[in-house]
Amino acid sequence: MYVCLCQGITDSHIRTAINEGCCSYRDVRMTLGVASQCGKCACVAKQVVRETLSDIHSSQLSSAYPAHFVAA
Ligand code: FES
Repeated sequence: MYVCLCQGITDSHIRTAINEGCCSYRDVRMTLGVASQCGKCACVAKQVVRETLSDIHSSQLSSAYPAHFVAA
């Protein structure tokens, strides 16, 4: 879906930018230019960044421990 109509940026663009090294909303904004014109997309862009970083964090945690690992 389009997140930023002014720049033609989709949620996929944001996810790709994060997978390629962006680690914050600020990084994504500087890399893609999202929310750099009217700014109406900033809240949605931040949400996509948060969700993507959370997904990455969750997948890293689940791969750090085997499925049969039980915390004491
Ligand atoms: S919709 Fe993103 S800057 Fe306008």
